[in-house]
Amino acid sequence: MMDRTFKQAIRISLCSLLLLAAGCGGPKKDADAAGGIEQAPDTMAIGQQSFGTLPDGREVTRYSLRNTSGMEIGVINLGGIITDWTAPDASGNYEDIVLGFDNLEPYLDGNPYFGALIGRYGNRIAGGSFSLDGQAYTLAKNNGENHLHGGVKGFDKVLWQAEPRQSDAGNTLELTYRSPDGEEGYPGNLDVKVTYTLSEAGELDILYEAKTDKPTVVNLTQHSYFNLSGDFSRPITDHMLTLQADAYLPVDAGLIPTGEIRPVAGTPFDFTQPKTIGAEIDADNPQISLGGGYDHCWILNGPDAGFRKVATVTHPPSGRRLEVFTDEPGVQFYTGNFLDGTLPAKGGGTYARRSGFCLETQHYPDSPNQEAFPSVRLDPGETYSSHTKFKLTTN
Ligand code: BGC
Repeated sequence: MMDRTFKQAIRISLCSLLLLAAGCGGPKKDADAAGGIEQAPDTMAIGQQSFGTLPDGREVTRYSLRNTSGMEIGVINLGGIITDWTAPDASGNYEDIVLGFDNLEPYLDGNPYFGALIGRYGNRIAGGSFSLDGQAYTLAKNNGENHLHGGVKGFDKVLWQAEPRQSDAGNTLELTYRSPDGEEGYPGNLDVKVTYTLSEAGELDILYEAKTDKPTVVNLTQHSYFNLSGDFSRPITDHMLTLQADAYLPVDAGLIPTGEIRPVAGTPFDFTQPKTIGAEIDADNPQISLGGGYDHCWILNGPDAGFRKVATVTHPPSGRRLEVFTDEPGVQFYTGNFLDGTLPAKGGGTYARRSGFCLETQHYPDSPNQEAFPSVRLDPGETYSSHTKFKLTTN
């Protein structure tokens, strides 16, 4: 911990000197891109280094977005995966607060979507099928009988084109991918762009955009697992959560929404006032049992309010606070119930059950089959747009 703080302090002061002497501006490639050695202490620029090679020989690159207060977010062009997010606690100790792996191999070998971009469809589509304009489409079934997170090879597993640049808002990484007509069963060529920007205020802004050449369905999200303690051996049950949501979607045994919209009041799903994640996570409640904890979509208040704050998570021991803003109607709150201590944690150890939580802003699961849910249809000539911001601060 001391080590990292020290390193960050050196980075910041060296950069201040560099700023005075030569300027830190302008995206630039690190000289040691192939070596994976510590990069130049250039906090304003976007670092770039090799993160390994795919079995087909293509190289995976890690980009590091930094701000001048020493925050750093690592993103790889494989799956647009956020591999690490180093952020200070209330005492100025810098630690990594998202689950992931130290190197490429585990990402290729059964990654439970750590840090990944999810598409074309976040969460489940029942029976792996849906119809549009009377035409039935059969999708890849990768979750029992259902389709989950875009299928066998969703957007989390493809190599994106990455373009680092600086904008007025901060350091930006623009990721683009063309999903071909028929990929995982979906109709239409889909051109997708996801823009990550790290601001000076500790905000990761994510803008998702897409265009299609045939009617299709789209529901993109980000699957980072947070652990604000900075210690992956600790469960996230001591984090306090507030969710601006008066209702949620109960699920069936396959975790598909039943279609009912149920008020949270008086249930373990009520986070309208700050409550520890662990307070009722093992409550004697049929919905809790089905999810093995929380693994449900909450219906966010103010669907017509556009971009608004929908969630706050605080971790009292470290003083870290995560706020989530979105223009989406729902959020899947997942408490890492399926993590089972088999995956290798960064820096040693393994990821135990509930060592991370996700807040996946999105439209509702199974919307293509549930007419009462807000539509996820995208037609040619339209632009899909979804906006989410994760803001990390301290007390
Ligand atoms: C889903 C979980 C799933 C997890 C990892 C979440 O979005 O709701 O059911 O296990 O992603 O795949």
